[in-house]
Amino acid sequence: MILNPMELPFKNRVKSPTQARRVLPFKPIPTSGMADTFQSLLNQPAQNPDRLLYIHIPFCSKTCSFCIYNRNESTPANTVKLYVDTIIDQIYSVGKTPWVQSAPFKAVYFGGGTPTAIPAQDLVSIIKAVKETIPLTNDCEISVESTISAVTPQLLNSITKAGVNRISLGVQTFDNGIRRSLGRESDNETIARKIGLISQSGILNICIDLIYGLPNQTIESWTNDLNMLQQLPITGCSVYPLVSKPNGHGISTELDIEKEYDFFASAHHTLSNMDGWQQFTPVQYGHSVNGKAIYVSGHGQSADLLALGAGAGGRINLYTYLANPNIEEFLANKANFYQTPKVVLSIDKEYHNLRKVFNLSEGLSLNNQHNQDLRMLFNNEFDFLNKNGLATEIGASVQLTQKGCFWAANISELFAKRIAVLLQGNEPRT
Ligand SMILES: C[S@@+](CC[C@H](N)C(=O)[O-])C[C@H]1O[C@@H](n2cnc3c(N)ncnc32)[C@H](O)[C@@H]1O
Ligand code: SF4
Repeated sequence: MILNPMELPFKNRVKSPTQARRVLPFKPIPTSGMADTFQSLLNQPAQNPDRLLYIHIPFCSKTCSFCIYNRNESTPANTVKLYVDTIIDQIYSVGKTPWVQSAPFKAVYFGGGTPTAIPAQDLVSIIKAVKETIPLTNDCEISVESTISAVTPQLLNSITKAGVNRISLGVQTFDNGIRRSLGRESDNETIARKIGLISQSGILNICIDLIYGLPNQTIESWTNDLNMLQQLPITGCSVYPLVSKPNGHGISTELDIEKEYDFFASAHHTLSNMDGWQQFTPVQYGHSVNGKAIYVSGHGQSADLLALGAGAGGRINLYTYLANPNIEEFLANKANFYQTPKVVLSIDKEYHNLRKVFNLSEGLSLNNQHNQDLRMLFNNEFDFLNKNGLATEIGASVQLTQKGCFWAANISELFAKRIAVLLQGNEPRT
């Protein structure tokens, strides 16, 4: 599959939806008003019945050079213990609020860092606190991110009993040479054995993360990664382009845009054509029954997100917030959830309707019902997508194409810029 550089729809590829949304005209709430704003928000019943819970565990037993996430290595055991106690206290306090109690959550996601880097009994205690306090749907997805090396029979025994029904493993690649250069501990035989253990433990929803654009990665090794995936009881896969860290730290990708597209297209082709599999988002594929990704799919769309933990980012109604990423400062606030945000931002109420447009770029389609008004408001953008083969319109429904999936974060940025114009009536800052 060749991408003609003369026909590139965008100059540079945006790789992260978070980066794409930065142009949205959110306004900061002054520090002095943050706790009160947050408290009054949670003292009202939910306006959006679609909600997710995220819990951030910012610890890893060993950190990787390429990683862009908020995480810490070799944290003293007493800090980890204090962190777990703080999260549990916050669950009990925030769990009683009218906003939390007014509708069930459809997914709980433990992300990191590496949630399984903390003692299994601590993870179980947090899950127990969630289940005791927070209303969950009957078929609530409870996902835990893990490295391969943290997977043990003891861990699996504890978390399955606690109710974990989905695991998301950072495999990145099955290529042993590249794995070693990334500092990943397990080889591909160990990965296969651990995935077998997970499957036997009763967790049937097993998702892996793969990254393309890694140093020394070839299309042959990537094809081999996709072949290995098909031989194992894996039910889902997230496919990420390597994102370089700011300031040139860590590793950066050596691929030009055409090669990036080749990697993306071969994964897209393989994963969307696997027996019983479907695509859920531009980067998430899985079995339509056993490989659903409720949290991941809801996160890119219109669900509200209660996020707990240092550096966790959430959104409630017309507000977004970021909890203090500094662990010491985060812990200094202990159970007082309202004091934990470092930043709270708000946006105009018109955004409620406009944000549905992201269902196309972060989900895969806009249905008839959403599309009626949005087609007029985003007329130029939809024409641009059609003209460049990034989306197709069938009646009133709009669908992202394969090429559209590759440029999905750019499309989000395009929409975000238009939303800024619609809300502010002038050109956005870039
Ligand atoms: C927070 S990590 C959680 C998984 C677990 N800690 C592990 O590494 O196995 C989530 C995923 O983010 C992805 N990721 C981290 N840094 C990245 C980067 N620079 N570019 C692309 N993806 C990245 C990796 O695929 C990783 O598995
Ligand atoms: S990739 Fe996973 S294990 Fe590595 S530093 Fe990032 S969060 Fe930790």
